[in-house]
Amino acid sequence: MMTNQSDVRKIIVTGGAGFIGSALIRHLISHTDYHVLNFDKLTYAGNLSSLKEVESNPRYSFVRGDICDRAAVENVLTGFQPDGVMHLAAESHVDRSIDGPAEFLNTNILGTGNLLECSREYWQQLSAERKACFRFQHISTDEVYGSLGDDGLFLETTPYSPRSPYSASKAASDHLVSAWFHTFGLPVLITNCSNNYGPYHFPEKLIPLIILNALDGKKLPVYGKGDNIRDWLYVDDHAKALHLVLEKGVPGETYNVGGNNERTNLEVVETICNVLDELAPLQRLEGLHNYRDLITFVADRPGHDKRYAIDATKLRTQLGWMPEENFDSGIRKTVQWYLDNKWWWQPIREQKYSGKRLGGKKQ
Ligand code: NAD
Ligand code: TYD
Repeated sequence: MMTNQSDVRKIIVTGGAGFIGSALIRHLISHTDYHVLNFDKLTYAGNLSSLKEVESNPRYSFVRGDICDRAAVENVLTGFQPDGVMHLAAESHVDRSIDGPAEFLNTNILGTGNLLECSREYWQQLSAERKACFRFQHISTDEVYGSLGDDGLFLETTPYSPRSPYSASKAASDHLVSAWFHTFGLPVLITNCSNNYGPYHFPEKLIPLIILNALDGKKLPVYGKGDNIRDWLYVDDHAKALHLVLEKGVPGETYNVGGNNERTNLEVVETICNVLDELAPLQRLEGLHNYRDLITFVADRPGHDKRYAIDATKLRTQLGWMPEENFDSGIRKTVQWYLDNKWWWQPIREQKYSGKRLGGKKQ
């Protein structure tokens, strides 16, 4: 598997207690011999129980810290001596960025700037051989490209046009990463991925929120007419893509990640309802025949991007990536996972976030 970077072995993952970061760490620990240090602030979205299956592995370690904290980042870099940093720590929810953008600017922009500076200082004092192998990989989103009409796909060359505080903060962080490559020569990689779904997804995002509301017999909120389109990728396919890009990606390059699974939001919600009707038939509530009867159209999100869709040809043809799940197989696995893993989500629904509407009003 390893190519010219045969000594990429010790990796810091920022945001490893989050949805994608934990999937990435589970993948790296079980499919490589890497030593992985998870650096995470444990915000509302961070959850160490997502790492239960790797927490006792001697190649895994955890440090609680904030990417905005220069001393903490310097300490972890000098102490762990990584061969790469995979940077996922971020505020990630568009609706929360409408309610309160400040933390998005702080973590996503200033935090990424701080991590880049500390990484550059660390990288500069490495031996020539280790310097050449070092990688700083920034995990970003397709939302930086803006909103598509009925046609077209996002390419790596699509001009940036972010429209939410979240996507604008991610666009800013992408630009910083690119600047550290061009100005300082830091060997960076950027990946821009479409919407992920799968196990351990915090239930403020569409898919887990709908599954858990349905199981609770609560309304299933669909913004606007439900005709906005997202391009869904199963999270383990994203984790595999990130590992591949770390190993084989060309420094300075951007790679789009996505699996050609465009769906309207209403199609997504109806599919979840159909799978639940089969796997966990509704206990007849008054007036309800199936889960679809819980669907409720609610006020639209301000500035709601119409459509996202990724062209991942570059990743496929240049690095050989292929997703394993399509939407139908992935959503079935996901629904089954939530049915089987109440221990993970019940404390979150009871103590952290019970499903109330976020980001609903123009400020
Ligand atoms: P998430 O919200 O589930 O997890 C974010 C993690 O970052 C949490 O564990 C949190 O504790 C940690 N964190 C937040 N602020 C921090 C700080 N200041 N210092 C250290 N740790 C901090 O997010 P996710 O869905 O796993 O997304 C991970 C990354 O992937 C993000 O950068 C996001 O922009 C990007 N991304 C997400 C998607 C998606 O569909 N979820 C798609 C493409 C790209
Ligand atoms: P989300 O999971 O928040 O991801 P993103 O905004 O990053 O794409 O939302 C996915 C889509 O689902 C988006 O078009 C907004 C919509 N949505 C709803 O219709 N109802 C909801 O309750 C939520 C959370 C999202």
